Amino acid sequence: MRLAGRRALITGGARGIGRAFAEAYLREGATVTIGDIDIARAAATAAEIGATALHLDVTDPASIEAAMAAIREAGGIDILINNAAIFTAAPIVEIARADYDRTFAINVAGTLFTMQAAARLMIEQGRGGRIINMASQAGRRGEALVAVYCATKAAVISLTQSAGLDLIRHGINVNAIAPGVVDGEHWDGVDAFFARYEGKAPGQKKREVGEAVPFGRMGTAEDLTGMAIFLASDEARYIVAQTYNVDGGNWMS
Ligand SMILES: NC(=O)c1ccc[n+]([C@@H]2O[C@H](COP(=O)([O-])OP(=O)(O)OC[C@H]3O[C@@H](n4cnc5c(N)ncnc54)[C@H](O)[C@@H]3O)[C@@H](O)[C@H]2O)c1
Repeated sequence: MRLAGRRALITGGARGIGRAFAEAYLREGATVTIGDIDIARAAATAAEIGATALHLDVTDPASIEAAMAAIREAGGIDILINNAAIFTAAPIVEIARADYDRTFAINVAGTLFTMQAAARLMIEQGRGGRIINMASQAGRRGEALVAVYCATKAAVISLTQSAGLDLIRHGINVNAIAPGVVDGEHWDGVDAFFARYEGKAPGQKKREVGEAVPFGRMGTAEDLTGMAIFLASDEARYIVAQTYNVDGGNWMS
């Protein structure tokens, strides 16, 4: 019960890693709100696991404000996990501006302005807080076909550093998790991109990246929950502005 009494908002928690975080936080005694653009899926997930679902589009300032108002009303916020994101891939010469705009709007502006709104509420509450941003190994170096997504995740690492340094004076610790390759619906989509651009059979890229992980397989969402609990717990109080790799050994820094 390391998070007993804490109130958490997990963006993009309707499925995948965010859902696993929600379940883990509930097991640790937290009260969890899932904020997701897919409200039907969020509501179904929330009902299954014992969380609350809230419609949230992290690209829409009004939606963020409405979500924070509802959260304030319900008792406030102690932990934000900025988890909502989308993946995209294309060779440089094929990147479409609309795709670039949408990916940056969700992954970067969504992370920044949800963090800003949560930080404002945390400062108003005066009881500190924890913010965990979802980065990626993709933010550690570029990849030939993944320029835009990689750039968004590098931006998340940078925002984590700046926000971490700014917000710690309010008792708000901002840190990030950089997963490697995590099996699930997200990676089904990634696999489809590589099937298209590298001429691979469906499932082939997944097999290859799994075999290349030093640990010996792709990650699961549950492989990440320990770090998400730790960063939100009292034990992590002196950790500020860091990005932790949880990737089976793919990246070292
Ligand atoms: N799966 C991986 O291999 C992997 C690796 C590294 C990093 N990550 C990161 O971890 C996080 C979670 O990944 P996942 O695999 O669970 O992804 P996912 O695609 O399964 O889930 C993303 C969730 O975000 C929601 N979402 C999308 N746009 C939104 C918006 N505008 N507002 C609110 N919610 C929105 C979706 O509805 C979905 O529920 C992401 O930040 C992702 O970039 C994933």
